[in-house]
Amino acid sequence: MNSLPYIKKSNGVWNLYVNEKPFTALAGELHNSSASNLDYMETKVCPYLKEMNMNSVLVPIYWEKIEPIEDKFDFTLLDGILKQARKEGFKLILLWFGLWKNGISSYVPEWVKTNNSKYMRACNYEGKNMDVISPLCEKAIDADKKAFTKLMTHLKEVDEKEQTVIMIQVENEIGLHGSDRDYSVYANEQYKKEIPECIAKLYSANGTWEEAFKEDAPEYFMEYYYAAAIEKIASAGKKIYGLPMYVNAWIEKFPWRPGGYPSGGPIARFIKLWHKVTPTISVIAPDIYSSDFSGVCDEFTIEDNPLLIPEIRRDALNSSNVFYAIGKYNALCYSPFGIEDFKTPPELLTGLCNPNLMKTLNIDVNAWDCDNTAVYLSKSYEIINSAMDLIRKCRKDGKLHSFIRKDEHERGTVIQMKEYDVRINFKSNQAGIPKSAGMILEISDNEFYIMGTSINYSFMPKKNENITVGFLNLEEGEFINGEWAASRVLNGDERYFTNLYDMPSINKIKLYKY
Ligand code: DGJ
Repeated sequence: MNSLPYIKKSNGVWNLYVNEKPFTALAGELHNSSASNLDYMETKVCPYLKEMNMNSVLVPIYWEKIEPIEDKFDFTLLDGILKQARKEGFKLILLWFGLWKNGISSYVPEWVKTNNSKYMRACNYEGKNMDVISPLCEKAIDADKKAFTKLMTHLKEVDEKEQTVIMIQVENEIGLHGSDRDYSVYANEQYKKEIPECIAKLYSANGTWEEAFKEDAPEYFMEYYYAAAIEKIASAGKKIYGLPMYVNAWIEKFPWRPGGYPSGGPIARFIKLWHKVTPTISVIAPDIYSSDFSGVCDEFTIEDNPLLIPEIRRDALNSSNVFYAIGKYNALCYSPFGIEDFKTPPELLTGLCNPNLMKTLNIDVNAWDCDNTAVYLSKSYEIINSAMDLIRKCRKDGKLHSFIRKDEHERGTVIQMKEYDVRINFKSNQAGIPKSAGMILEISDNEFYIMGTSINYSFMPKKNENITVGFLNLEEGEFINGEWAASRVLNGDERYFTNLYDMPSINKIKLYKY
C-alpha cells in the first residue's frame, strides 16, 4: 500500500506529497450546500466540473449530516461523494464543518444546538448567547472530536487503499464573529487567570491575559482557546488516520477590530501562536477575497508557513493569480470558491451573488463575478499542469522567475537572468480579462519558456553589455506528456512585438547576441 499523503519541506521548498510524489492541487471549492445531496452533486455539480482541468475538489462534510442522532453515524453521503470523485478522476480535500463554520456554529447537529446547558454558547459583551458554541466548552469539543474521529476511522476503512482524499481542513474560518471575546461566566473566570505557560514562553509575557496583552488581551485569549480546541480535535483524528490537516482563515480584510473579523481565527498575525499550539496542523491557510493577492500571500508565508489557498475570489481578472501562486510561492493548493458555477449555464445558476451575504461576510461583490473565468482558469490550469515537471526542475535550479501586476500603478517589471534581462510590460486591468501574470523558465543560458497572460515582453542584454539581442527562434506551442510540441513559428510581423495575449499561453524562445 502507498504511504499516506504528507506535507514536507525539502531543499527549501514545501510540497504536498501524494503517492510519494509532489502534488499541486489545482482545484476548486464547492458551494457550502452542494455536497448535502448526492443527486444534486450528480446532476448540478459533477457535469460542470469537467473541462476545468482541475485535479482536486474541496468538498464539505457536515457534522449535522454524519451524526444526526447522538452516537448514530451515517456515512452514506461521504461514500457517495468518494464514488463520484473516483469516477470523475478527482482527488478530494474534505472540509470538516463541525463546531465552527464562518465564526458561527450552524453545522452542529440538532442535539447540540438545542442543549445549551451542556454545549455552552459564547456570550457577547452584554452577556447574551451568541450563535456559536464556546471554544472553552470541553463537552462540545469532546463531541466534535468524537464525530471527527469517527469520520477519520471511516475514511481509513474505505479510502486508505485508493487515497481519493488527500487532505483535511479542520473546521472552517474559525473565530468569534460579532464580539472580541467570549463573555460567558465561565470564560470571564478563565480570562482572569494567568496565561498558559506555552503562551507565556512564546511571547515572553506573564500574568493574567490583561496584564500580559493589555488592550489586545481579548483577541489573544480567543486565539489560544480556539487553537487549543482545534489541536484536541485534529490530533485525535490524525492519530486514527494520518492525513495532512490545515485550518483556513477569514482574514482581516482591512484594518478592523477583532469581532469585525472572527476573533481568535488563524490570521497572519497569529501564525506563530497557531504553530505553537496546534502542532498537528501543517498549514495556516488564507481565504483570499481581497484584491491584494501577493500582499496576503506574503503575510501567510511568514514563520515558514507553506502557502495553501483553499478559497480565492472568482473573477476572471484575478484568475491569473494562479501563475504567481505556483511560480512564486509553490502553493500546495489553489482553489476558487463555488467552482461548480463556472461552467453552469447562467439560467441554471443557484449560487448567485447575494449582496447581503457579501456584506455579512465582508466580501467585495466583484470577487463573486465568475463570468468568463472558466475559459481562462481552465487554460491556466492546463498550462501549469502540463509544465509542472519543468517548473519544479527550474525552481530547484534557481531558474524559475514569476511576475504579476500587483497594483494599478505598476506598468511592468524587469527580470534578471544569467545572460539576459527580460522586460515585461503589463496591460491595464480590464474587468473580465486576466491581469498580467506569468512565469519564465530559464532552461539554459539562451533558451526560455515564458507562460502566462496579458503581457508584452522583450529581451535585453545585461546592463554592462554593449551588444544587441536577437531571436534565433520563437515558437508558440504546448507541453504534451512533458514534451514541447511547437505550433506556429512566430517571425515577421509576429516577432516585432512579442506578447502573451489574454488567453494564457506559452512561448519558447531561443536568443543570441550580436
Ligand atoms: C468563506 C467561507 O469559508 C465559505 O464557506 C463561504 O461561506 C464563502 N466565504 C463565501 O460565501
